[in-house]
Amino acid sequence: MRTETIQVDPERPDPAAVERAASVIRRGGLVAFPTETVYGLGADATSARAVAGIFEAKQRPSSDPLIVHLAQAAQLGEVAQAPPPIAMELAGRFWPGPLTLVLCRGASIPAVVSAGLDTVAVRVPAHPVAKALLEAARVPIAAPSANLFARPSPTTASHVLEDLDGRIDMVLDGGAAPIGVESTVLDLTGPLPLVLRPGGTPLEALEAVLPQVAFRPKHLPLSGEAAASPGMLLKHYSPKAALWLFRGTGPETAARMLEAAEGVARARRVGVLAFDEELESWSRFPVEIYGLGPVDQPEQAARRLFAGLRELDRRGVEIILARGPARQGLGEAVWDRLFRAAEGRLADEQEAAAGGPEIPGELE
Ligand code: TXA
Ligand code: MG
Repeated sequence: MRTETIQVDPERPDPAAVERAASVIRRGGLVAFPTETVYGLGADATSARAVAGIFEAKQRPSSDPLIVHLAQAAQLGEVAQAPPPIAMELAGRFWPGPLTLVLCRGASIPAVVSAGLDTVAVRVPAHPVAKALLEAARVPIAAPSANLFARPSPTTASHVLEDLDGRIDMVLDGGAAPIGVESTVLDLTGPLPLVLRPGGTPLEALEAVLPQVAFRPKHLPLSGEAAASPGMLLKHYSPKAALWLFRGTGPETAARMLEAAEGVARARRVGVLAFDEELESWSRFPVEIYGLGPVDQPEQAARRLFAGLRELDRRGVEIILARGPARQGLGEAVWDRLFRAAEGRLADEQEAAAGGPEIPGELE
């Protein structure tokens, strides 16, 4: 299959280009498109056959459910059964935007979309290209992130092509995704609202509306249990290199990273995700550096994280050293993605496993 790439203005996409993409969706094809979070791989959410194509193109296990995207919150009743009043309230407050609500699945959405669950994840994206595509398609669009399964999510059209060229019909190239991490997933089907994945809508913003919201940063191992708690897969967003994640946000953590680099950089090719404040110290080491912006601006780290993982892979590093920003605002989502990229292990354990020098543990 040849994958066609169409450039569009991210603010005012050409209606003719959008209509061509919409007709691919209506015919049951696959179109990658920018959202404000990351690029999505879209198909007609009402067609089981079209949706099966998404799982195949991404090599995604069929146990991992997809998010259904709508043009407007008013369509919620078309895809979800009896959404509770709180869903409408959250929709009014956070849509369009990076919040996904898990609700009871409506009859128009085939089970394959939700990996057989009787729930459905729904969001109304804010990106003008996503909005235009949804309006033109006139069907809800199921769209996971447009990467191969377990690879870092794509924040540009070239990331999409890196993973999916020749496997999908079309990419709408609308430049870099402005937020850079995926939506926050909030489950409203249990006794209490539960955040399944921290993301583009900060937990603090949800707490202001939902004081009783729970967040369990629980990550499950890769196989099997997906249906019990989907969205919690641990091996996810993985670069090819092993990621060593350091705990702590102070200068002592930066010092530990430099010390570790001194040990491993002699034998292995090392990459570093560094905050601006540390760039100068790193420049004295034989390592590949990718900057995440100032340490106190997690929005910048969010925007740059996935591109950084892909870029360091491209430069051929074997180990990536990283630490997270403070776990506030978008910092929580950045930490979550780093933790999963590290497959749930902190640097001390990984270094020990690799036979490197033992580093004293540090508690936050
Ligand atoms: O920002 C985003 O959410 C992007 C853009 C394209 O909208 N999409 C995205 O989709 O990140 P995906 O498939 O990569 O992640 C969807 C997450 C997964 O963690 C999945 O397990 C969870 O949402 N999810 C989907 N349906 C669910 C359901 N019925 N119950 C619980 N979790 C669900
Ligand atoms: Mg994904």
